[in-house]
Amino acid sequence: MDYLQIKRVKSLNGQIKISGAKNASLPLIAMTILAKNNVSIKNLPHVADINTLLKLLSNLGATFNRGDEITTVDTSSLTETKATYDIVKTMRASILVLGPILARFGHCEVSLPGGCAIGQRPIDLHLKALEQMGAKIDIKAGYIEASAPDGLKGCEIIFDKITVTGTANIVMAAALAHGSTTITNAAREPEVVQLCEILNSNGVEIDGIGTAVLTIQGTSGKLIDIEEFSVIPDRIEAGTYLCAGAITRSELTLTSVNAKHLSAVLSKLEEMGSTFTITPDTITIHPSEIIKPVKIVTQEYPAFPTDMQAQFLALATQANGTSIIEERLFENRFMHVSELQRMGADISLNGHVATVNGKSKLSGTDVMATDLRASSALVLAGLVADGTTDVHRIYHLDRGYDSLEKKLQNVGADIIRLKEQQ
Ligand code: EPZ
Repeated sequence: MDYLQIKRVKSLNGQIKISGAKNASLPLIAMTILAKNNVSIKNLPHVADINTLLKLLSNLGATFNRGDEITTVDTSSLTETKATYDIVKTMRASILVLGPILARFGHCEVSLPGGCAIGQRPIDLHLKALEQMGAKIDIKAGYIEASAPDGLKGCEIIFDKITVTGTANIVMAAALAHGSTTITNAAREPEVVQLCEILNSNGVEIDGIGTAVLTIQGTSGKLIDIEEFSVIPDRIEAGTYLCAGAITRSELTLTSVNAKHLSAVLSKLEEMGSTFTITPDTITIHPSEIIKPVKIVTQEYPAFPTDMQAQFLALATQANGTSIIEERLFENRFMHVSELQRMGADISLNGHVATVNGKSKLSGTDVMATDLRASSALVLAGLVADGTTDVHRIYHLDRGYDSLEKKLQNVGADIIRLKEQQ
């Protein structure tokens, strides 16, 4: 196993190119199950989760060709419809194949994904919506057994809670259904928007894209031809590097980024003292010497994203004053707190609310990553901690950050990847 060794440097400087969005790539790869042609995808990030989903599709009989810039996925030879536990347990977003496989083949078995470190992560809303569309859903021996031999039927679906992958799953199921499906309380994340835009421009008529009410006209089982497309930039990767600029007081320029997807994040960084120069595909952060404290509540897009909570909590340890950070989406997304406390941060937890008393002097030590975004929070803390910070279990980080240590080395960070001593 690898770990990252980080030492404090005076400041960072230069440009960081943002990769394609992991959370857009996953539904877009699942979407190829709806295609009759070999689909070309540009700008897929080189991260473990993408490799996992491509492997899952190949286990089902699809073929793919992973290039640096372009990946092609051909599901015409896909025959298997069972997504087994061994692979689903490593990435719960595998649930995204449920809707497309069921819509295309009329039956599908997917291992229950189980929870993960940050929460129980139920999929009840995915299953309830598919049942409303006429599917028979049974849970047997840890597997979801879904069948709709006559195809899925369009209907009115109202999500009790906003669910990102739930919305993506049902949009893809509805794409091949008979008739029209309306999803109310749909997720509006840019990753869901891109999925809808690509389906809409390739023959699946979707109204309300970007709003909380989506209407999808199904093709009644006809597969679609999907033209080449490029994955949108990863707004969470971008937000993470903006926090790196803010916490080290460094002027960094992000390229291949879309600032429109980061409004809530930019607004909170401005509240904490940074200013920005923004062009259509770059963001330059001009950080303040004094970081102001902040109040943050995580909510669904376009509000402040839960996937940036850990990174801002690390940043808040360097603010002059008390910050309040409330996590409203997941029940256990503060595991980075105990590791930051070990580095010297003054943080107290009361249920879903973290109170961060800054400014803390952080000291480097051995810390353990527990989930994807917690990992990046520990890296951010390491950039300003005295001494050496060793971040262990960075397989979490490798799931969602493309070449993080290389990107930070390129702007002057003292960060290297080492092998754990056996
Ligand atoms: C997506 O997860 C992202 N993952 C997560 O990013 C992100 O944190 C999350 O959305 C929220 O923005 C991918 O897109 C692959 P949800 P998802 O369904 O879809 C409850 C990262 O770091 N819920 O929107 O699984 C659920 O418990 C990852 O990149 C139900 O109750 O999240 C949660 O409280 C971490 N029943 C809330 O809804 C359901 O059937 C939002 O979950 C589904 C969800």
